[in-house]
Amino acid sequence: MSVAAILSAAQAIGGGVPAHLSFRDLRKIYADGVAALDGVSANVGKGEFCVVLGPSGSGKSTLLRVVNGLTDLTSGTMTLSDTALSPKTLRGIRRRVAMVHQQFNLVERASVASNVLAGAVAEVPSWRALLGWYPDHLRDRACEVIARVGLDEIHLPRRAAALSGGQQQRVGIARALLLRPEVILADEPVASLDPAISREVLGLLREAAREQGATVLCSLHQTDLAREFADRIIGMRKGRVVFDGAPHLFDAAAEGRLYEGLTAPVGQSAYQEKAYA
Ligand SMILES: Nc1ncnc2c1ncn2[C@@H]1O[C@H](COP(=O)(O)OP(=O)(O)O)[C@@H](O)[C@H]1O
Ligand SMILES: [Mg+2]
Repeated sequence: MSVAAILSAAQAIGGGVPAHLSFRDLRKIYADGVAALDGVSANVGKGEFCVVLGPSGSGKSTLLRVVNGLTDLTSGTMTLSDTALSPKTLRGIRRRVAMVHQQFNLVERASVASNVLAGAVAEVPSWRALLGWYPDHLRDRACEVIARVGLDEIHLPRRAAALSGGQQQRVGIARALLLRPEVILADEPVASLDPAISREVLGLLREAAREQGATVLCSLHQTDLAREFADRIIGMRKGRVVFDGAPHLFDAAAEGRLYEGLTAPVGQSAYQEKAYA
């Protein structure tokens, strides 16, 4: 299918929000035969905080990883605005898409400042990064994002390992924000944090992304957090989308469908057929 056809299929989604990320019939079969993505189609609107919700093994990480090329697709097509995502376009895409990881993925012995500046990897040659030679505008931007995530100047020289889990994820978010990405992929960003800190960190991620108009694809396995923070929920089970809609439509029946495999009755309001299903 041509990019133009994908784009027209991906037109405006619920509420008239233009589609920013578009997935069409994504399949990922790992070498051992596991179908981690088994025909995933969805559109994510520009600026949406879209939660990918589902039990462990449902394909959430795989979905996020195919977007930035960390995992290659077996088949299917993806677009980011006007660009078809493929190995060929990956280089250009890398600076437009940032990732926040469950285990923070910081260099523990390095300072907060250098961990945040590592977010410029798509812009700064690696030899310069190794020597710590970053241009002034990136240093200024690093200070800006560090302040934005609620850390202070005193944290800049501290080793990442010296921070609490919540603070480390703030650094992870600051690193993701550094180059003003269009899309932020957050793979279970609060799975290693306690509930109160999880809420703080998710709220921060949502607000910071909103300020710069970034679209967020955030995987979670906690339904309460999904309901609280999502503009939109994509529910996955065994590599398939079994719910796609606003959080208020994600009721007990939809939750059952996702977690227990209960089939919602025909016409059940909770289950929104995808426009192009
Ligand atoms: N590198 C891999 N090789 C083989 N199977 C994998 C690999 N990564 C994930 N899987 C399998 O793919 C399925 C989906 O995994 P994943 O995307 O990690 O789900 P989730 O993030 O929802 O837990 C699971 O059955 C998992 O075991
Ligand atoms: Mg995962």
